[in-house]
Amino acid sequence: MFYTPAEGHGLPHNPLNAIVTPRPIGWISTRSADGSENLAPYSFFNLVAYVPPQVMFASTGRKPDREEGKDTLSNIRETGVFCVNITGEAHLDAVSASSAAFGREVDEFEATGVAREDCVTIPCSRVVGTPATLECRMTEIVTLRGQNNFLVLGEVTGIHLNDACLIEGRFSPEVFQPLARMGYRDYAVVRDVFEKLRPGES
Ligand SMILES: Cc1cc2nc3c(=O)[nH]c(=O)nc-3n(C[C@H](O)[C@H](O)[C@H](O)COP(=O)(O)O)c2cc1C
Repeated sequence: MFYTPAEGHGLPHNPLNAIVTPRPIGWISTRSADGSENLAPYSFFNLVAYVPPQVMFASTGRKPDREEGKDTLSNIRETGVFCVNITGEAHLDAVSASSAAFGREVDEFEATGVAREDCVTIPCSRVVGTPATLECRMTEIVTLRGQNNFLVLGEVTGIHLNDACLIEGRFSPEVFQPLARMGYRDYAVVRDVFEKLRPGES
C-alpha cells in the first residue's frame, strides 16, 4: 500500500510510530521553578552529536492543564535543564506508570515509587540505579509544524555510568537489556547484540 499523511492510511490504527522502530526511551526528569519534581518517558529521543555531546527529544501534544506542551517541556523552559535516565527491561513498569497524565503538581518519583537523587552538574533529580544518566543543559527549543510539537535540544554536562554495566572498560547494554518503544502499545527489549566492522576497520 501507499498513502500520504494528508490523505490518510485507512488502517484501523495509525502505523506511523510502528514504522520508525525501535526507538530508544529517554526517561526524562525535570524540576519546575517552584521545585516540583517530574519524571516521564519520551521515545522521540536520541543522541545527535559527539562533541560536545548533544541529545534531542520531542514533546508532542499537550496536557489538559497546560496551554501548550507537557510538564517536561514547561519545566525545561523554566529552569533550562533536564536529565535523561536510560532504561533497561527492569524499568518497564515504572516507565509506563510515569507516563500517566498526572497533574503538573504531582511528583512522579513519589507517585510511582521511584528513588531519586540530586544531579551533579544541574539543579535536577535523577533516577537512582539506572544503567546511565545524562545530565543536560537545554540549548534550544524548536517549535515544529502543527499543534503542540516541540523539539528540545540539550548539551550533556555530566554522565553517570552504572559500574555494573562496565565490562572490561566497555559500557555494555547487554547487562541491562535496553528498553525500546515500538508502535501501538508495544515495547521491545534489546537482547541480540553483535559486532560488525565498517569497511577499513580492523
Ligand atoms: C514509552 C513511552 C514513550 C513516550 N514518548 C513520548 C514522546 O516521545 N513524546 C511525547 O510527547 N510523549 C511521549 N509519551 C507520552 C508522555 O510520557 C506522557 O504524555 C506523559 O504524561 C508526559 O509527562 P509530563 O507532562 O510530565 O512531561 C510516551 C509515553 C510512553 C509510555
